[in-house]
Amino acid sequence: MTRAAITGLGTARGHKVVTNHDLAQTLDTSDEWIVERTGIHERRVGGSCLELGGQAAKIALKQAEIDATELDLIICSTCTPDQVFPAVSNRIQNELGASCGAFDLNAACSGFTYGVSLAQSQITAGMERVLVIGVDTLSRFTDWDDRSTAILFGDGAGAVVLEPAIRDDRGVLSTYMGSEGRFADLLICDFGDYIKMDGKEVFRQAVRVMVSASQRVLADAGLEASDVAAVIPHQANFRIIESAMKRLDIPLEKAATVLETTGNTSSASIPLAMDEAVSKGAINDGDVVLLVGFGAGMSVAAALLRWGQ
Ligand code: UT7
Repeated sequence: MTRAAITGLGTARGHKVVTNHDLAQTLDTSDEWIVERTGIHERRVGGSCLELGGQAAKIALKQAEIDATELDLIICSTCTPDQVFPAVSNRIQNELGASCGAFDLNAACSGFTYGVSLAQSQITAGMERVLVIGVDTLSRFTDWDDRSTAILFGDGAGAVVLEPAIRDDRGVLSTYMGSEGRFADLLICDFGDYIKMDGKEVFRQAVRVMVSASQRVLADAGLEASDVAAVIPHQANFRIIESAMKRLDIPLEKAATVLETTGNTSSASIPLAMDEAVSKGAINDGDVVLLVGFGAGMSVAAALLRWGQ
């Protein structure tokens, strides 16, 4: 089977830094509370999905050393598109000068990993170059007077180019896309309204689904938790990551985090954390890397890959 390997990675962050101290000026909260309960110190706000997604995509293409005209498909994961339609991916396609098919997918914060899974299946089916973008601008749907949500979210983008792996054992090993629609009301944003969330329950369910999705992709690839060199989890709350790692019996040091400076950027959070881990040298050729995301829906997705081409 042809496996998809990541050959380019790019990211972009919202324009303006908003620190916990900034939020404490207008909300009944404190830097101490936010850091202790979430791990977040600051987040970035500002920019459209087209702008941030396009920026991340250009960096990913450059790193992969391919021209946009060579792309076979663009998949853009977002739950906060700039317009109802056209899709953000159509606008990014035009911005890049690509001529391939393009569509958006909405699986909330699990969307980037859904995108990787779809890219893998398209590459197995014969495509050669697929661009997967995760971009969200949650700040536009955040009630900045609501301390239970305003402290969490930020804007950002991440993109990867996937191509057939050169070596047989590199690339995507297994994927899982899940949905537990009975929990759909835990985290919602209606048209014209702000994000509403039952934080405690999202927390509880998030840990459970992250663990089961991770165990599933490990079993499908015939690997154990001890084989994993790095975990790139959705960046919602450091305590969620901590609990999931504990239940998976994977040392916390193996979890990549970026939420300290980005907050929860939904579709962008996994590629942003991946970029951070790569630049720190925490992911190397041949490493088994686990991506695992969860979000509104309740959606969940995991992908296991062996790093390198
Ligand atoms: O992509 C998925 C997106 N969502 C998530 O992943 C959210 C998952 N949930 C969470 O991250 C956490 O539940 C939160 C960070 C949202 C909240 O943390 P918590 O430890 O579950 O706190 P809590 O909701 O149980 O609230 C504890 C107390 C409450 O006061 P009382 O009732 O004990 O007096 C809240 O009113 O903390 C209060 N509180 C705050 N205090 C200071 C809630 N928000 C704040 C705040 N600053 N920002």
